[in-house]
Amino acid sequence: MSEHGGQLRKAASQYGMPLSDWLDLSTGINPRHYPIPEIPSRCWLHLPELDDGLMSAAYEYYKTQDLLAVSGSQQAIQALPYLRKKSKIGLLATSYYEHKAAWKAAGHEVVLLQPDEVEGSIESLDVLLLVNPNNPTCDVFSGERLEGYLKQLQNRGGWLIVDEAFIDCTSEKSVISFKARDGLIVLRSLGKFFGLAGCRVGFVHAVSSLLERMQQAIGPWPIANPSRYVAQCALQNTEWQQETQQFLHKQSEQLAQILSLIPSSVHRNTALFHWLKNDDANELFVGLAERGILIRQFTEPKSLRFGLPATNQECVRLKKALAEVLNR
Ligand SMILES: Cc1ncc(COP(=O)(O)O)c(C=O)c1O
Repeated sequence: MSEHGGQLRKAASQYGMPLSDWLDLSTGINPRHYPIPEIPSRCWLHLPELDDGLMSAAYEYYKTQDLLAVSGSQQAIQALPYLRKKSKIGLLATSYYEHKAAWKAAGHEVVLLQPDEVEGSIESLDVLLLVNPNNPTCDVFSGERLEGYLKQLQNRGGWLIVDEAFIDCTSEKSVISFKARDGLIVLRSLGKFFGLAGCRVGFVHAVSSLLERMQQAIGPWPIANPSRYVAQCALQNTEWQQETQQFLHKQSEQLAQILSLIPSSVHRNTALFHWLKNDDANELFVGLAERGILIRQFTEPKSLRFGLPATNQECVRLKKALAEVLNR
């Protein structure tokens, strides 16, 4: 398995510190997850049923019925490359690694792009795959631009895949509002905003013919019943969703203030994480890890990603540790 955030056990053993002492800021997952309801025993005892209410909750939340439920958007990421003949795929050079890995593993040609190269490359691509907002660089592509890219690709049987794992707090920017049509594939996740990464639930928005092919490729019951139940509750709870948006916004502002201590050439954020370009990324990563704070480090370009602290106490701990590391 490739590097991901959230590998706290590895860090705990590497730095010789008990798991419980760590502050894990290494992912972009909401630190205050949707509270897990009591799971009815029938969920454990029966095979999942398609009319159990999950899809209706998803239709309401995503405002479209052209959806397929998958075992985390990762399952769709793995399946998509096998639904096309050998193609040329363009994606951002610094982005969620699993996309590149999946298309390469399936034998496609992968072209790595900088954000300002996307426009000029479309003519030569069969598939353009963008994570919007991008993880970790926070680049954002407007709906207008994406619509333009889609038209160009669609004309020659191409695909535009938009991975919107981190878009829930800015859902007005989501292209899930685009009518399902040939060439458009949108991925959504319950792992980030809802904080339910372990639940393994995601959705794909596309035309029904493509959803049917994906459904066949992944087989029946991709999502276990208990996960379906929790996901349905989370998608229906609009009160929790609104409160959580406000909470995340507040935490992100606090984090921005703390991170302003670090002299960085670029500092950007999404609602769920901040990204800083810094030549001393490794020193900062190690210094924080020695103090039991795990963040995510990238080497190309040298940069750091910070997830949101859950409490004021965690903010204070991070600020103190950062001041120590920066002043040594
Ligand atoms: C950009 C992006 N897309 C998709 C995923 C996969 O998420 P999940 O399978 O939990 O929906 C991740 C996980 O880190 C991610 O960062």
